[in-house]
Amino acid sequence: MNPQEPLLMTVRALMQVLDASDPATRGHSLRVSRYALRVARELGVPAGDYSAIELGSLLHDIGRSAALHDVLHQPRPLDAGERAVIQTHPSIGWEILKDIPGMKDAAEIVLSHHERPDVSSRVTRCRSVRGS
Ligand SMILES: [Fe+2]
Repeated sequence: MNPQEPLLMTVRALMQVLDASDPATRGHSLRVSRYALRVARELGVPAGDYSAIELGSLLHDIGRSAALHDVLHQPRPLDAGERAVIQTHPSIGWEILKDIPGMKDAAEIVLSHHERPDVSSRVTRCRSVRGS
């Protein structure tokens, strides 16, 4: 058994509970992790990286779920300020995970999950959050 498997099983279960609290996100984290692993295999990513990819993809919206519940569950459309707050969820997730032993790579995935390869401003913003 992969030594990370108990951690992965725990995170899968917790994310199912978290996702289930909102009908709009039910199953989202598990689906994203399955797609991420499928893409990683297709791209030839080394199998040793799969645990970090699964953890990062399972937890990619943890910042959104953990810190922004009240903003997300407004009974009206979000205003510009609220949308700006929501856009901080990758860095909130990174802050939650970055100091947990063994979670550095997963935290990097969480931080960068809304980045696009051709949008340097978002990459720069993530670098400034990380301090590198
Ligand atoms: Fe997200």
